[in-house]
Amino acid sequence: MSRPVAEKADALVFFGATGDLAYKKIFPSLQAMASRGHLDVPVIGVAKAGWTLEQLRVRARDSLDKHGGFDPVAGPRLLARLQYVDGDYGDAATFAALKRELGAAQRPMHYLAIPPVLFAEVVEQLAASGCAHGARVVVEKPFGRDRASAEALNAVLQQHFDEAHVYRIDHYLGKGPVHNMLHFRFGNMLLEPLWNRTWIDSVQITMAEDFGVQGRGLFYDATGTVRDVVQNHLFQLLCHLAMEPPARADSESIRDEKVKVLRATRTLVPQDMVRGQFDGYLAEPAVAKASTTETFAALRLWIDNWRWQGVPFFIRAGKNLPLTCTEVLVRLKRAPSIYAKDGAPPNHVRMRISPDVTLALGATAVSPTDESQSAPMEMQASHHPGAGEMDAYERVLGDALHGEQTLFAREDYVEEAWRIVDPVLAAPPPVHAYAPGTWGPAEAAGVAPPLGWHDPRA
Ligand code: BG6
Repeated sequence: MSRPVAEKADALVFFGATGDLAYKKIFPSLQAMASRGHLDVPVIGVAKAGWTLEQLRVRARDSLDKHGGFDPVAGPRLLARLQYVDGDYGDAATFAALKRELGAAQRPMHYLAIPPVLFAEVVEQLAASGCAHGARVVVEKPFGRDRASAEALNAVLQQHFDEAHVYRIDHYLGKGPVHNMLHFRFGNMLLEPLWNRTWIDSVQITMAEDFGVQGRGLFYDATGTVRDVVQNHLFQLLCHLAMEPPARADSESIRDEKVKVLRATRTLVPQDMVRGQFDGYLAEPAVAKASTTETFAALRLWIDNWRWQGVPFFIRAGKNLPLTCTEVLVRLKRAPSIYAKDGAPPNHVRMRISPDVTLALGATAVSPTDESQSAPMEMQASHHPGAGEMDAYERVLGDALHGEQTLFAREDYVEEAWRIVDPVLAAPPPVHAYAPGTWGPAEAAGVAPPLGWHDPRA
């Protein structure tokens, strides 16, 4: 965490308290914060469910039982902290009740874990009721569906909240290994001399999931892979790989460098994208019968700046692929061939983000079976995240409470990210079928790194 730009919030309000996100992510993160002694403010859930506080506590308890287990010490602490406001988001009485629950709080944090269509109404009511005074607002992804809608959402938020008090969640930034990419790049001399167009041949990012849409057909069909994970999570990885060293470690210096990467990234053209849809997707509940939404995307991106011009960056993401794994592979140019008949395989840097964490350097050494030949080898440092490590949501919510912005997407970043994908979302290339458990449609070979896609199972 760098130096926060705001004081610590003194109340945590979350809208959507009876919803799915609260159930799966928010309650477990709050319990984890309580168990580290990090949750010392009132926690106020808001929803329109006709519930009582007791019912919310039962739901929270059930959420904790299902997601990581009820901690006998921290669980009761969290339940005791919970307060609840039930009511319609369009009704001023709901917000008058919230104001009463906030009591003497001067700097509440309002977390909108609700669909974006409700943001405007809630923000207006927060302002009219006085609950926005001194407050910060945390919003969930997706942040808009294109540049125009993101700008409209930003306008809504900024009517009542200064940008310094807006926190746009991208939970990928809360993952330890994603943050570690910056330490690995900027805490060592090892990579920097190689990390440019002179030495690097291509960069590829794979985010594979071995499951389908898991009952989220309604959301997914309106969203697709590019909006769901590419424009946000994977562009953040792209920025961590491509950005310049920040002038300082504070949030704005880091976020400035990320925006510069996106500004230098060419707007996508249809020839640089392949879309796929897994067989069986159309039979998923709530998916349109003739849907052309992609469940797989492969993209080629170009960053036209001094460091990267001419180096292709590839992103591949999809549902129902052979495994669940997020991994980066940076290939260097080939060494001149002395020992290898067909040329030495290129060196590489591999960063596995999940499920396990690996940093690896691929090199060539003498073959163990034929001393006249060389063979590829890899030096690895691996780590299996264990119990007790901070989950991404715990980290982002904790940072928002503390007024630390590094892990959140800034307005200019979000708008620039949409600029890159907007044309291919507005006029998408055709969608090709693929069998579940494969690496997407055969056509994906047309948008592939020079030596092909790396198989994270290899
Ligand atoms: C979410 C997407 O933002 O990220 C999901 O909506 C995706 O479709 C998920 O499965 C992946 O996140 P994680 O942390 O499980 O890798």
